[in-house]
Amino acid sequence: MSIETLAQTALAMVAPGKGIIAIDESTSTIAKRFDAVGIPNSEENRRAYRELLLTTPKLGDHISGAILYDETIRQSTKAGVPFTRVMADSGILPGIKVDKGPQPLAGFPGEVVTEGLDGLRARLEEYYKLGARFAKWRAVIHIGDDIPSGTCIEANSHALARYAALCQEQGLVPMVEPEVLMDGGHDIETSYEVHEVVLRSLFDALYQHNVMLEGTILKASMVLPGKDSGEEGSIDEVAESTLMCLKSSVPAILPGIVFLSGGQGDEDATAHLDAMNRMGPHPWPLSFSYGRAMQSAALKIWSQDLAGNVAKAQETVFARARDNGLAARGQWGR
Ligand code: 13P
Repeated sequence: MSIETLAQTALAMVAPGKGIIAIDESTSTIAKRFDAVGIPNSEENRRAYRELLLTTPKLGDHISGAILYDETIRQSTKAGVPFTRVMADSGILPGIKVDKGPQPLAGFPGEVVTEGLDGLRARLEEYYKLGARFAKWRAVIHIGDDIPSGTCIEANSHALARYAALCQEQGLVPMVEPEVLMDGGHDIETSYEVHEVVLRSLFDALYQHNVMLEGTILKASMVLPGKDSGEEGSIDEVAESTLMCLKSSVPAILPGIVFLSGGQGDEDATAHLDAMNRMGPHPWPLSFSYGRAMQSAALKIWSQDLAGNVAKAQETVFARARDNGLAARGQWGR
């Protein structure tokens, strides 16, 4: 695959005022989300829920791509239209989660490494044929007493780089996601330091593995104080720390950075993105690739009446997409 094609896809993912909706929850993760609102985790409910999201009217006005899960990329609407066709009709690029999730890192209690490299080339080849044009791999970094270790950071960066090189070989833009969790009692300075080491390690590994940055998208976590720190961190403080950290560790040639929401409130996720873009211009477009912050309000509404609340839930999805799209331009305001 030519680098020009990959670069074009990457730029389309971060087109002005557009971002990504992450609906790639594995069957066990969606079980938790459904469980929280009392929806049985059946294949039909998962299909119906993803149909609701992907057929939201005018979603393509603010959404450039959607990250799907293996089950979802093979599913269709109730009327029999493949989801990938629905997406193509709304100008939404299909993405696919390809990692197999974090597993305990042997010898390093409390730390994890993401698995899924075995057989990845063949899986990517199939996903490309199914219509996927970008992929996602999420590494998870915990902050705690004496962690993360250098070994954990390096193991995850190495896996991300091998995944990214394979994606580009198979014609998919790799979205590389090293998520530094907000769980814990650490302060914002600690979050900054960990993010900086993790991002530098990642870009070093991508360089070592001949990954072309022009055809790569970074999915980053924001620099936030730990959830249990008792610190709030103002919107501007979070925005400034995140920006400074990215500027010190992410090459300017990268076509774009999108953020995960990571358990922040819906409005906080939007406000942080908006504040960062107001502080621009920056070397890269900054946009969103939110899962929970795009979906949680809609899921709650749908759960109250699966058959009757589809349109109402879709209005909420659209409103979240519109607000985050405005934040991607620094035009949301509070
Ligand atoms: P959240 O926005 O809910 O953190 O999910 C984004 C995602 O795709 C994590 O991998």
